[in-house]
Amino acid sequence: MDWGMKNRMSQLIKDDGRCFFLPIDHGYFQGPTHCLEKPGETIEPLLPYCDALFVTRGVLRAAVDPVNSKPIILRVSGGTSIVGGNLANESVTTSIEEILRLNVAAVGVSIFVGSAYERESLLNLAELVNQCEDYGIPVMAVTAVGKELEKRDARYLALASRIAAELGARVVKTYWCEDFDQVTCGCPVPVVMAGGPKCETALEVFEFVHDGIQKGAVGVNLGRNVWQDPHPAAVAKALRAIIHENFTPREAFDLFNSEVK
Ligand code: 5RP
Repeated sequence: MDWGMKNRMSQLIKDDGRCFFLPIDHGYFQGPTHCLEKPGETIEPLLPYCDALFVTRGVLRAAVDPVNSKPIILRVSGGTSIVGGNLANESVTTSIEEILRLNVAAVGVSIFVGSAYERESLLNLAELVNQCEDYGIPVMAVTAVGKELEKRDARYLALASRIAAELGARVVKTYWCEDFDQVTCGCPVPVVMAGGPKCETALEVFEFVHDGIQKGAVGVNLGRNVWQDPHPAAVAKALRAIIHENFTPREAFDLFNSEVK
């Protein structure tokens, strides 16, 4: 691996082999998502606990301080919305010059395996890898399911994750599912877990994150289950303890409870 690529990967995945990415990119197709209406205010108490932010260029410029910033994973696919025809019909939205200008640690692009736009989204990924590898910039593939949440099973997610890695993704972001080891075993690059819609309790979040890590995930890219919780900083602190300090879900929940009292 070239120095630049290695340097950027080490900004994302820490010395212990683990990572906590905080995504705040949801507005790129959902608009002002609940608790993310003012992204700068949302992230302020969470920054001490996360390792990187996943964000579009618009919110990056508007809401993230460039001085002493966390490493940035730039969301570079889009062009669709929750009220439009098909969420899968994305293109790459950001030029390589812009990616370089923003000095990011990585870029992220969605793929929609099994959708009407499977081919287009996979070629978006492949073309982005072609461009970014020239400059030592890792590409994170996001195995997106659009509105079809039922696709989040091990067979589908293993298929989508492996295809993403085959096309050159350096990191794959996918959903946690039962039998998550089937997903990680078939994927030759690091896998991080997204959360999806908010869980009922923080303990549920800690349990699936812990399970996924035991089964081979290197960490999380977890958004709504952090910043839509009434105590987002306590969730973030407890997640960090699971990811980087090997806390059990129960120990993490005790830490969470001690923070909210
Ligand atoms: C949405 C994304 C998010 O980064 C991803 O879904 C993780 O966020 P959450 O944990 O809220 O699902 O790609 O565009």
